[in-house]
Amino acid sequence: MTATMTEPLILGIETSCDETGVGIVRGSTLLANTVASSMDEHVRFGGVVPEVASRAHVQAFAPTLTRALQTAGVTLDDIDALCVTAGPGLSGALMVGVSAAKGLAAATGKPLYGLNHLAGHVAAATLDTSSDEAEPGSGLELPTIALLVSGGHTEILKITDLVDGIELLGSTIDDAAGEAFDKTARLLGLDYPGGPNISKAAVGGFDDGVPGDPTAVKFPRGLMTAKDLRDPERRYAFSFSGLKTAALRAVEAEKAKPESERVRLADIAASFEEAVVDVLVRKTLLASEDTGINRVLLGGGVAANRRLRDRLSQRCADEGISLLIPPLSLCTDNGAMMAALGAHVVARGKQPSAPDFGVTSSLEVDQVVV
Ligand code: KG4
Ligand code: ZN
Repeated sequence: MTATMTEPLILGIETSCDETGVGIVRGSTLLANTVASSMDEHVRFGGVVPEVASRAHVQAFAPTLTRALQTAGVTLDDIDALCVTAGPGLSGALMVGVSAAKGLAAATGKPLYGLNHLAGHVAAATLDTSSDEAEPGSGLELPTIALLVSGGHTEILKITDLVDGIELLGSTIDDAAGEAFDKTARLLGLDYPGGPNISKAAVGGFDDGVPGDPTAVKFPRGLMTAKDLRDPERRYAFSFSGLKTAALRAVEAEKAKPESERVRLADIAASFEEAVVDVLVRKTLLASEDTGINRVLLGGGVAANRRLRDRLSQRCADEGISLLIPPLSLCTDNGAMMAALGAHVVARGKQPSAPDFGVTSSLEVDQVVV
């Protein structure tokens, strides 16, 4: 779909975790996607600290908004509708975005929609991107299975309609995939965010440059027994906490050995990465097979993981499934994805949210508009 000037101009605000995002879209055309991240402030804690993230959103919001408007070459007056993430996410962080959005709505008289963050991740794939980064091409087609993996979530969704047809097939029962990377990185003495550092370690980037052996350490694959797969509650569910404990034991066992007999950091990192990727890929393929939906969308910050991209691409190609991975700037948390979702919600004629709507940290995925 190409944008016409008659399509509404939508501004989206995202503050559910550690990224302050403001995006502006018209239809499927991306006009601005400005993001300020507080990631650096969380490094010394080894993970996102909600209080620190909230404060950073307060500081970053106004400059991020200004930059987004400048990039799009529009003013607040030109905007037709405002959208903001109402959940799921960190309550304090969400509250900063929702309060700011309510202030803008009150000052400008524009309609305001409180929207679901997970649906936003899916909607990001509807934006036109001419970027070469998109693999193997943008443009969301429905129905699709979506695998959303980040520091805050790990979900497999079945999507038949962006606004009224999102079904949660399964999610993590403990840590999110990115969180497992972050916590394990810490055990391995690597900095936050753990994902990129574990990937670097896995290819030998922190030792001799020789890629690690993904079979060197036998890490558990959570909820993958035949019994788990027979159980509808567990078939598409994930568990990464056992893996984290296994990583801790592996590190302790290595420390107890004489230096010459220790496996390399690269081997532990590659084995850990393989264990996470293995379960993500296998369960996503199961969902596709069970539903007969031969399309898969990958989103969330963990979509940056090279091993995940390669394994998923390979398995999808083997099975004749088309795989859509939006450019990374749209996979990680951002405001443009919320604006993209807003464009669909507005086009569908949905009513704006009630003026007193609040944030819901565990908002269910099928509630797209609050
Ligand atoms: O979507 P995102 O930017 O923010 C939220 O979690 O909301 O995702 C960040 C997460 C972190 O947990 C980070 O460790 C993980 O994505 N991540 C990765 C990689 N790059 C980022 N995980 C594995 N491999 C990577 N290359
Ligand atoms: Zn997210």
